[in-house]
Amino acid sequence: KSITLIGAPIEEGSGRRGAAMGPTALRIAGIDTVLAELGHTVHDEGDVRPLPARDLANHPGANNLQMVGAFARALHDAVHETARKGHFPIILGGDHALSMGSVSGMARHADELGRPLFVLWLDAHADFNSPLTSPSGNMHGMPVAFFCGEAEFAPILAGDRPLVDPKRVYQVGIRSVDAREREEIAENGVNVYDMRAVDEMGMANIIREILNDVRAANGLLHVSLDVDFMDPEIAPGVGTTVPGGATLREAHLIMEMLCDSGLVSSLDVVELNPFLDDRGKSARILVELTASLFGRRIFDRPTRSA
Ligand code: ARG
Ligand code: MN
Ligand code: MN
Ligand code: MN
Repeated sequence: KSITLIGAPIEEGSGRRGAAMGPTALRIAGIDTVLAELGHTVHDEGDVRPLPARDLANHPGANNLQMVGAFARALHDAVHETARKGHFPIILGGDHALSMGSVSGMARHADELGRPLFVLWLDAHADFNSPLTSPSGNMHGMPVAFFCGEAEFAPILAGDRPLVDPKRVYQVGIRSVDAREREEIAENGVNVYDMRAVDEMGMANIIREILNDVRAANGLLHVSLDVDFMDPEIAPGVGTTVPGGATLREAHLIMEMLCDSGLVSSLDVVELNPFLDDRGKSARILVELTASLFGRRIFDRPTRSA
């Protein structure tokens, strides 16, 4: 594969500093060399520059709206252009607000191909708040509502944007949901596999169900991996830890199954906060998981259909 790394050093969507160092930490952990060793061609585009977004009016319920909008616009263009060239974009975050740009860029690409875009959201959180519902005002808690077309965003973040059908959004690992998010998710028909579902069904069955849906629709699959998807014991380098997360083995299994499917078109690696990490542990785990997504194996398996 031809893989393009796109750094997105945004931290203004989160409530604290540090995530802007995420792209650097992922590079220091060797994300490019690991992928090259697996036989891929890796282009590192460096970090995107936020395009000025002074036309966006401030909103009391959306902290740092101009900077978030600026990154979203820059990433939309960079990700769309990368995918159009036939390269696989990996977005190195940066806080999760960046997915407003990466997912909408992929949605535009999918529109052009005439294929539906599916999103696999691996996160402790649903990230389905809007400026009207958010308890914190932090925009990293809002990207899913944004790209699913929540009406509240229209007046503040440009109205004309490609959208993802919420019924094509699959959230796995969810265990911290705000009251209003719970209602919105149900109303919009987002597919949620919360932590209880993971325990009851097993990760393999969940991923198989999701991949069957994507395959049946001839879709593209964007994967958005938030560090807090994993248990804080294995990945402490994130500002919003929630106990009871996915294990390292579950996370690797997901990546291996996604790799085998051949359906994944794009990846966000988000919310890494190196300032909070334990001697690079979380950065290294993210690189290892990315390697599993791009073909690293313990042993090869015979190809099985579903
Ligand atoms: N639901 C909380 C909020 O809206 C937390 C969101 C955390 N999001 C994240 N990407 N870490 O503020
Ligand atoms: Mn998130
Ligand atoms: Mn999260
Ligand atoms: Mn709504």
